[in-house]
Amino acid sequence: MKNIVVLVSGGGTNLQALIDAEKRGGIPGGKITCVISSKSDAYALERAKQNGINTRVLVRRDFADVHAYSKAMLDALNEEKADLVVYAGFMTILDETVCRAYPNKMINVHPALIPSFCGKGFYGLHVHEAALEKGVKVTGATVHFVTEVCDGGPIILQDTVPVLNGDTPEILQKRVMENVEWKLLPKAAALFCQDKIKVVDGRAIVEE
Ligand code: GAR
Repeated sequence: MKNIVVLVSGGGTNLQALIDAEKRGGIPGGKITCVISSKSDAYALERAKQNGINTRVLVRRDFADVHAYSKAMLDALNEEKADLVVYAGFMTILDETVCRAYPNKMINVHPALIPSFCGKGFYGLHVHEAALEKGVKVTGATVHFVTEVCDGGPIILQDTVPVLNGDTPEILQKRVMENVEWKLLPKAAALFCQDKIKVVDGRAIVEE
């Protein structure tokens, strides 16, 4: 059984999707063993506690710099014996030591079709604001491996939703979450836990 450690910062709806998937047997070979939050008041922590999942809080401002914070995160992941680390709305930057210690073992859900609307500054609602400003007619979400390049790691899964006249960032965010993120993130975790994802020449190959 692979230990899944989920990193969160906010509401935790993606964490909830993972918990629900695990409960219905949708993540064979994996178990969510710990949730680590970068915010002490993140509602995601409540979701973990309600489901009997061990929690930790690592707040960035309690550490001198990004390296000290990353060291604490790495220590926590090692102590938790993480086999898979899932960024589920985790909004705090870690240095390269963390993803180097867990190569192709950390996955992130990003609320856009990478390589559009990604990288530094593109997070949460800002991503949907940018998509609406550009006037794209289709958007979606991407699950990818985490590397040193922000939102630049091998793409595992993507799916789309239409952008409709009159959409606000909030409406679009909800459509992307409900139709794509909450399905793709548990699916990617399940594929990983069943050893169905390989990375070859920097690209992820998924055995369906
Ligand atoms: C999700 O839309 C996730 O894709 C996004 O933040 C939201 C978190 O919601 N992540 C990023 O923007 C990371 N670059 P949640 O806390 O309800 O899962």
